Amino acid sequence: MAAQVDVLLGAQWGDEGKGKVVDVIAPDYQVIARFQGGPNAGHTLIFDGKKHVLHTIPSGVFRPGVWNLVGNGVVIDPVTFMREIAALEASGVDVRERLLISRRAHIILPTHRALDAASEAEKGQEKIGSTLKGIGPTYMDKTGRNGLRMGDLERPDLMDRYRTLVKKHERLLGLYDHHADRTADEAAWAEAVKAMRSFRLVDSEHWLDEQLRAGKRVLAEGAQGTLLDIDFGTYPFVTSSNTISAGACTGLGVPPGRIGKVIGIFKAYSTRVGSGPFPTELHDDLGERIRQAGNEFGSTTGRPRRCGWLDLPALRYAVMINGITELAMMKADVLSGLDHVQVCTAYRVDGTVTDRLPYDVTTGITPVYTELAGWGALDAGRELPAETEAYIAFIERAVGVPVRIVSVGPDRAHTLVRTAALAG
Ligand code: IMP
Repeated sequence: MAAQVDVLLGAQWGDEGKGKVVDVIAPDYQVIARFQGGPNAGHTLIFDGKKHVLHTIPSGVFRPGVWNLVGNGVVIDPVTFMREIAALEASGVDVRERLLISRRAHIILPTHRALDAASEAEKGQEKIGSTLKGIGPTYMDKTGRNGLRMGDLERPDLMDRYRTLVKKHERLLGLYDHHADRTADEAAWAEAVKAMRSFRLVDSEHWLDEQLRAGKRVLAEGAQGTLLDIDFGTYPFVTSSNTISAGACTGLGVPPGRIGKVIGIFKAYSTRVGSGPFPTELHDDLGERIRQAGNEFGSTTGRPRRCGWLDLPALRYAVMINGITELAMMKADVLSGLDHVQVCTAYRVDGTVTDRLPYDVTTGITPVYTELAGWGALDAGRELPAETEAYIAFIERAVGVPVRIVSVGPDRAHTLVRTAALAG
């Protein structure tokens, strides 16, 4: 019987620490496959005292013998991609040997980035807070059936196709009154595209099917988070792809029946970068304390992340939409030293209390909190303090799935597997 595909994804607004968990569990898998998003993502991994940030390349790249696939649902910026390759090679990582790219993955053009900037500028106060990597416009060209795909790199008329699309983009940029000399961008793009021809392009749906038939274990790695999903996130303050588990099916060509475990990653608190609703946001010193303690600054843009308490209705929503079977709780150490911690268990909306994430989270929503005891220092070499265990038990009861992994520090080594949860 063919093996299954496990999915690992963010259960909040992104930046949950997916890269770290993928890296920790990668030895259990033979293939790590990214299924959506692009260089808007920044997956941080720290080991042997060194920090690595990945944007497009799957987080299995540091584990020997693991294949890494960039799936059809991903959008690739050749310039960022080659920069990422150069950084990895400079730190001695053999990245080419086991890296495959789907022919069906779409390509980000410099004019997609320009369109992203123009669209955000036009929105003014209402801007999404995009990472400005060209993600939205590239997915728009994908669904608009205008896009360039990695498979086009193998065609002799690639640059003609490029210029046709750029011409269309220039017309749109004219409507935004956005004019700039993009000659240098085009030269860098053409050079990066040339360099990308040395990578192995595959019909990844067939390649994955072969791997699964051969009994190989596959982990689908998501980017961003459930609440940034184009359909189920806090629209319009979302990204432009399906970040949820269903996205692994369309972003890799995997049938739903092949999906096995769905591992949801969440932080012991909440963060959000960019604009949009965030019911449990802390605007006070405590929010700042969490930001500093958790180093909550964007790994792609450097922007300070907004910080707040854990939001259980939102987490329960993520469990429901994704079919999450187990959770990993990250950055529990960041809350160390607080006498008490708050957890949002419901919302008050128009005078009524509800434990459901409503359609409109933008206005008139007040979190209802439960206060729990805080905890002291955490150490991966020791059992978790009773207060942390009580916090986790509270979460498990509220969302109905076990928390199997707890991260208590940034390094690969700062990770605990909860045997209590495993037994449960
Ligand atoms: P875009 O995907 O760059 O267009 O950004 C859309 C929204 O998603 C913005 O609020 C971004 O801050 C957010 N976003 C995009 N990628 C990430 C990510 O990897 N982590 C956290 N937020 C992200």
